[in-house]
Amino acid sequence: MKKICVCLCVISLFVASCSKTNEEVESKSSTPPTGGTTNPCDTVNMKYAANVQPILQANCYSCHGNGNVEGGVSLDTYNKVQQRASTGLLLNVITHASGYPAMPYQKPKLSDCDINKIRDWINRGSQNN
Ligand code: HEC
Repeated sequence: MKKICVCLCVISLFVASCSKTNEEVESKSSTPPTGGTTNPCDTVNMKYAANVQPILQANCYSCHGNGNVEGGVSLDTYNKVQQRASTGLLLNVITHASGYPAMPYQKPKLSDCDINKIRDWINRGSQNN
């Protein structure tokens, strides 16, 4: 009797996982693997051009780049980003600190990995590197 029960459970799990939409499957696979011996998120010695700018381009330029200046804010050059990084504003909006508008605006928070990359760059003096 127990065996049948386990069997049914496995089958229903299988069916459930098959009925998931593509979107759900995709977002599942984008979560970094856990329990591995190597850290899948490299946050050491982050550079503006190689590490930070691509994150902003992918997540912020739709409102703060390519001519978009939502909230009067543009982040499309190093100087404009550095200006906000140096005051703490940049980190506060992406970490959803209270008292600051949470960014990306009305979209999911950046991944911890991306936030930590930006944090490392800021901790190193937000250089134009
Ligand atoms: C969908 C559009 C949209 C996206 C995407 C977006 N923002 Fe914004 N951003 C806004 C709007 C609208 C405001 C003005 C919000 C307000 O003042 O309440 C704003 C304001 C800001 C401000 C100024 C906050 C202040 O208090 O002066 C910063 C800094 C900022 N965004 C950074 C970012 C960063 C970094 C990202 C990407 C991680 C991002 N935004 C993504 C729409 C967006």
